[in-house]
Amino acid sequence: MSRPERPRPAPLKGGYDVDDNAIRFSNYFHVLRELVHLTSGWLALVPAFDDKLRLGEHLHDDARAVTKVRRRLYELRHPSDYPGAPGPELSALLERLNAAQSPSQYLDVAYGEAKPALARAMAIHLDALDPVIDEPSLRLLEQVLERQRRHRLELGRDDRCAPIDIGGLEIRLREQRPLAVMAPLAEPARDDFIAVTPDGDPYLSDELYLNGEENHVPLEREEQRHFFHGLMDAELCAAELMARNSHEHPEMPWDFHVDMARQCWDEVRHARVHDVLMATELHCAWGDYAIGFDYFRSIYAYDLLGRLALFNSTSEQRAMWRHSHRRKVLLEQGQPIIATVFDYLLADEVPHVHNGVRWGSHLLGGDEQAYRAKVRDLRQELDRTGKPVAT
Ligand SMILES: [Fe+2]
Ligand SMILES: [Fe+2]
Repeated sequence: MSRPERPRPAPLKGGYDVDDNAIRFSNYFHVLRELVHLTSGWLALVPAFDDKLRLGEHLHDDARAVTKVRRRLYELRHPSDYPGAPGPELSALLERLNAAQSPSQYLDVAYGEAKPALARAMAIHLDALDPVIDEPSLRLLEQVLERQRRHRLELGRDDRCAPIDIGGLEIRLREQRPLAVMAPLAEPARDDFIAVTPDGDPYLSDELYLNGEENHVPLEREEQRHFFHGLMDAELCAAELMARNSHEHPEMPWDFHVDMARQCWDEVRHARVHDVLMATELHCAWGDYAIGFDYFRSIYAYDLLGRLALFNSTSEQRAMWRHSHRRKVLLEQGQPIIATVFDYLLADEVPHVHNGVRWGSHLLGGDEQAYRAKVRDLRQELDRTGKPVAT
């Protein structure tokens, strides 16, 4: 058989050597890790719902990017994925991120300096690397760069980044950079048109939140308006709690932060579903009723183990029954769209409950039985709707 004609490939260009390549990924690692850490800290304090929604999604994107960059570092520096510490120039940028005194200052630096600097360095990297010899870096960078550009479009800020290529900055291999933790949260921020009151919306009765025969499924339009408005706020509180869990515990394994980022995104997505449902099906809007932070505060007051036990392994675990019940009743009543909302809330609750078991057990040395015993103990402190009474 004659050999088929094959087009002649372009010559190899070489690109970066492995060490320079690894240094570039180490610099990206530091920017992305700090963005995940600080966005997790600030998300609760960003008032505008639309910004919070976008931040939750970007947080999850960036957490996954860190995972991929760590993996690439491991491949290039086998058997270590240790990224060293950033040199003085990159540290100065990271310090500006940490120095923000308000959510808008943080967003200015994150979206006006850090993300543009990251995108610029990745574009330089993509241009210079050899796409054949270093195809794994090519694939990774194309994906992360496209996401960074999208993030900037979605949370537009002026580009104030210095014209330096942060990928080429020195890395101090024998040093480590610790992450600073912000002051504890007093309470989350909401759009300025939202009424925050000590008791929240008085229309919401306990029966909406009970499991078993006493549960009341909201079927009338008026009660559905109040119910979904309250649920939208509860979703935001859940996102904020997960983000703060991540921010306040930089010592936890990386996968914990990815799980918290994913759940944070899920919860802000749920809030968006309710926002759309209210506008399109229920003819009401975010801000029509009061909200309250009593429940958020009662859970936030616990340490990480307590929060996982009472929120993920109790509140979310019990909500699964109610979502399933609501779906069934709403289908019977001929309300298929709202029933489908509960079908997806239920599906998303499964990994959220698992986050409780996974990381609660981790905190107890991997002992799942000890964690389940802790959950049982803490549940003694709850009232009939699942709200802690002893705090
Ligand atoms: Fe949710
Ligand atoms: Fe959830």
